[in-house]
Amino acid sequence: MKKTHILGSILFAFFAIGNSAQAQIYNPFAEAKANAFVDSLMSKMTLDEKIGQLNLPSVGFDVTGPVLSKDVEAKIARGEVGGVFNTFTPIAVRKLQERAIKETRLGIPLLLGYDVIHGHRTIFPIPLGLSATWNLGLIEQSASVAAKEATADGLNWTFSPMVDIARDPRWGRVSEGAGEDPYLGSRISEAMVWGYQGKNIENLSKQNDKLMACVKHFALYGGAEAGRDYNTVDMSLYKMYNDYLPPYKAAINAGVATVMTSFNDINGMPATCNEDLIQGILRKEWGFKGMVVTDYTAINELENHGMGIGKTVAARSIKAGAEMDMVGELYLLHLEYLFAENPEYLKYIDRACKNILLSKYRLGLFSDPYRGLDEKNQSVMLSVEHLQSAQKAAEESFVLLKNENQVLPLKPTSKVAFIGPHIKRKRDLIGSWSGAGDWKKSVSIWDALTSTGSTVKAENIKYAEGCNLLEDLELIAKLNPHDGQIESPKDSKKLLKEAMAVAKKSEVIVVAVGETFGMSGEAASRSNIHLPVHQVEMIKSLHTLGKPIVLVLMNGRPLVLTDVLPYCSAILECWFPGTQAGPAIVNTLYGKNNPSGKITMTFPQNEGQIPIYYNSRTTGRPFDNNQKYTSKYLDVSNEPLFPFGFGLSYSNFEYSNLTAETKGTSVVLTAEIKNISQIDGQEVVQFYASDLEATYTRPKKQLVGFEKVTLKAGESKKVTVNVEQSQLGYYDQKGEWFFEPGIFRFSVGGSSQTTLNKELKVLMTFKPHVTPEF
Ligand code: BGC
Repeated sequence: MKKTHILGSILFAFFAIGNSAQAQIYNPFAEAKANAFVDSLMSKMTLDEKIGQLNLPSVGFDVTGPVLSKDVEAKIARGEVGGVFNTFTPIAVRKLQERAIKETRLGIPLLLGYDVIHGHRTIFPIPLGLSATWNLGLIEQSASVAAKEATADGLNWTFSPMVDIARDPRWGRVSEGAGEDPYLGSRISEAMVWGYQGKNIENLSKQNDKLMACVKHFALYGGAEAGRDYNTVDMSLYKMYNDYLPPYKAAINAGVATVMTSFNDINGMPATCNEDLIQGILRKEWGFKGMVVTDYTAINELENHGMGIGKTVAARSIKAGAEMDMVGELYLLHLEYLFAENPEYLKYIDRACKNILLSKYRLGLFSDPYRGLDEKNQSVMLSVEHLQSAQKAAEESFVLLKNENQVLPLKPTSKVAFIGPHIKRKRDLIGSWSGAGDWKKSVSIWDALTSTGSTVKAENIKYAEGCNLLEDLELIAKLNPHDGQIESPKDSKKLLKEAMAVAKKSEVIVVAVGETFGMSGEAASRSNIHLPVHQVEMIKSLHTLGKPIVLVLMNGRPLVLTDVLPYCSAILECWFPGTQAGPAIVNTLYGKNNPSGKITMTFPQNEGQIPIYYNSRTTGRPFDNNQKYTSKYLDVSNEPLFPFGFGLSYSNFEYSNLTAETKGTSVVLTAEIKNISQIDGQEVVQFYASDLEATYTRPKKQLVGFEKVTLKAGESKKVTVNVEQSQLGYYDQKGEWFFEPGIFRFSVGGSSQTTLNKELKVLMTFKPHVTPEF
């Protein structure tokens, strides 16, 4: 069949749309005013003052790199600082802001940044957990709660959302993102931006409880080779545009105010001095109008990349469009000399300074530099409403991976042994990147079981620590002290003996183990993603008692669970659930909450399968067990342990009657879903598409729409999603948008392993103004 490559005018329209997406968000009248204000201010600024605006030191305790900022207060007073990060609380912020306002010649206010990643004081589940809720409203709400608390602490800028597509669970930072899928990742990316900033950036200056978001890490940081943090990224344009760039672009279209460049190189060019990336894709193709900040000392690190010394790498970065220098201070040191040598650099300095000042203007800092700095606002911190929202998010983030013989939910009358370090430990509950969150305020599983409101009777529950969370002294030394208080290992034989004694007297054994929070996140890659051996050994010993084991996991990445799967009747993946971990887990174990989370990253059978992701491309020799020469391993099947989108519930759902039809510019997909159990529940209905007549090889299937529905026992519902036909297009090998009519197979189900299919010829009809990709 002949394919139609509809480029030309459609492509033109797309790029025009790409540009207009931001233009619509930035109201032209408000922007004209902002530009006039900033131009006038800049006409009064000296070169040094302009360069000062480009400097972003850190003041505080959260250090994520080898370099520390020094004498920041004096630098602020000298006009050498445009913003600071890691300082919060009204008193601390006011002190710094006053220096900038009162002691510098022009009184330009500071940006006040912080890594508010999954909550500020009230901590929500880690982002990978949040993504498992598939509840966009709830995710947006989590960012909005975070914004309320962060602004009450004087912050006006968060370094979030992190939207790096992650297909390699060895990489520790998978915990910070939304998993492997570009469509879901894009929806989550925009929900986060809206939660932090509101839907209209024009209103940012009027909403003291909103702050600027910063989409990171631009770009492709999740593509690090071998899952090792900060490592090389080498990627075709085809993969980059189709799989990795969409979530950043979604944030841009949602109006994100700032972008952070990533540490990695891309095909030989580090992101921080990558003109094609910053000027080409971000500015020109996508029409981004906000400000670009580097990651922590990323300009200095170009020296390690072997790209020359200070002045050279500063020159390359400013020219490429990295505008604010995080911690490194190379701009402060070298830009003046660069200008003296070549006046052309003024153009780049001005460009950077202008974008930074425009951000401050859009935030309303010139009219109110002390934005939100009212002690009274502190009452929002950990408010009942915020805690409820965090608990709901935690409950919806849990993924039930196994539930043999319906061992869960537990009966309130059952005698249960609660065993494992995560039953009482609080330090890990809030995960990594938990900002201003105080782990002591989080509620452990045991706290929740024994709290006054608990419906579980004290005589029915017993506790034993069972094992150490970690026993590998080398690893413990690496994690301590920055990544949490890790106690020295206790006598493991004694711990096991106590656990066996407690377990013997019970009917069911709940084991809570996993990782410590420092084992995922930044600089926390692991080559072995099994549970630690001694945890596995404990589970095996408990299994000899012949009682059902319920495994409650806390961890920041998909783990290899093959060695414990046969010994556990049920597995509940809880990630790091946040401040309200305990009540959320207890509610789920005892059936007050029916699990509805679905994993957003594939769980492999072993590390050798990595990278493994559901939307991998077709091969010419697909797996066939009866044929030797097909794409497979000799020692493990191609199947994951748990596929993307998978998650059980206490209810059972049945899918039927999938229909697919074209209507105007959409493909309308409808399916019926029935709760065939006696228990009310929620299900994430997932729709996928496969292109059967493509010019290029395409993913075996890709998510094109989903809806989370609530179904009472016995209830059925019709679920419909409208897939814009343009959504079925893709980028070609040159990174150009490509639409082609042809036959698609649509499918539906409760995971990426769908069973109901429908084929349909799609002719590709477009709305003239639709943004044609995810
Ligand atoms: C991380 C960023 C973070 C920054 C500031 C870096 O090490 O890569 O994600 O925003 O530190 O703390």
